[in-house]
Amino acid sequence: MKKEYVKPFIRKQTAGVMNKFGAAYDKGFRDEIEGVAVADLVEKFGSPLFVLSEKTLRQRYRELYSTFSNRYPKVQFSWSYKTNYLDAVCAVLHQEGEIAEVVSEFEYQKARRLGVPGNKIIYNGPYKPDEHMKIAFEEGAMVNLDNFDELFRAERVAKALGRKVAVGIRVNLDTGIYPQWSRFGFNLEDGSAFNAAKRVVRSEHLSLRGLHTHIGTFMLDPRAYATAAKKIVELMRACEKELSCVIEYIDLGGGFPSRNRLKGTYLPPEVAIPPLHEYVQAITDTLLAELSPSEYPTLFMETGRAIVDEAGLLIATVDAVKRLPDGTKSYIIDAGVNFMYTSAWYNFKTELDRPVQGAYENSVVYGPLCMNIDVVHESIQLPPLTPGTRMILSPMGAYNMTQWMQFIRYRPAIVMIMEDGTPEVVRRAETLEDIVGPERLPEKLKKLPF
Ligand SMILES: Cc1ncc(COP(=O)(O)O)c(C=O)c1O
Repeated sequence: MKKEYVKPFIRKQTAGVMNKFGAAYDKGFRDEIEGVAVADLVEKFGSPLFVLSEKTLRQRYRELYSTFSNRYPKVQFSWSYKTNYLDAVCAVLHQEGEIAEVVSEFEYQKARRLGVPGNKIIYNGPYKPDEHMKIAFEEGAMVNLDNFDELFRAERVAKALGRKVAVGIRVNLDTGIYPQWSRFGFNLEDGSAFNAAKRVVRSEHLSLRGLHTHIGTFMLDPRAYATAAKKIVELMRACEKELSCVIEYIDLGGGFPSRNRLKGTYLPPEVAIPPLHEYVQAITDTLLAELSPSEYPTLFMETGRAIVDEAGLLIATVDAVKRLPDGTKSYIIDAGVNFMYTSAWYNFKTELDRPVQGAYENSVVYGPLCMNIDVVHESIQLPPLTPGTRMILSPMGAYNMTQWMQFIRYRPAIVMIMEDGTPEVVRRAETLEDIVGPERLPEKLKKLPF
């Protein structure tokens, strides 16, 4: 085979920096996803394109759920809608057996619309307007209260409904990981959580059914979960003993990491991120040690990122190549940070759709937005790419498809590769009509001078 011509260049040597630890740089390429050619996906659905895998999603759920259920008899997963509330993603996880965890009326309505009954919804979050709290109470949702003002409102809403409503409280606690997530819920260590529990139990209109905590996200130390579980069990004991109530559930939230590469982390995710079974073990060992079988409460887990992140990726295309004045190689791709919200924290794994000859060189990857902040990779080793090369960026399944924003360009389509290998559009690409639909132009502004 004739060798391709590669333009000569001079590269500054940075001896020994990149090779101290970690996996070798992956020089492989990837021209298919779940058996479907990247070229076919782009031809059919365009670029950029989010791709989800039904198989991976189900697998990730099953692996994590079975690790829990093999160790603790009463565990129920509750899908954290904010992580990815695409109908198709939620439906797969509901089919697998997850109930819904929502934090707003919008997410609540989305779950109900999909067919999730109210009593299979956990309603969290720091803001629940009266009218939505009322619906959640009427429909039997598990509402976890966040603060005393909300608790007093919940009492009034329950009173107006004319029946006693069972609620949970959210608790924040010190797990030894700082900064501590203390803004949500009632603090344990200063006594607020117990006081809130007491206030609920003594209320004419409320009763206490559960204790909830969510200690943070992308938690890198499984031991934090052992501490959280122990502290929640102690609170449960105190409630049962001193307030004579029965705690039906404890909910330890989400927060397990995905195999994404956090910025500023030198080691690759395979080395830096503890395996998920260590988190499960930290929780279940604690519960089994602290509780006797007759008192096991239901354990809710609201794991989001660790289930869906690796089920999603993004195909993007190199549009242009240029050298910056300081000699740095730069690429412009067709996918911007406006729909890769998590690019603020992660250096995504970036695979090419073809083998590329030539020396690897430190490069910058820009998105297509006319904004200085649109930088997908500040520094990545890439071989010389030509326009048209596809990049496959991953993992992308968590938070990007919910926190994305329409900005300057249309948001792309999302396809799910179904278990049988068929790609299905689960969200079509945006059109002008989707964006201007809610706008109204005042009559006097309708006439333009040209
Ligand atoms: C209350 C609650 N539960 C669950 C989650 C999901 O967290 P993660 O995606 O880190 O598992 C979140 C995310 O912030 C949350 O706020």
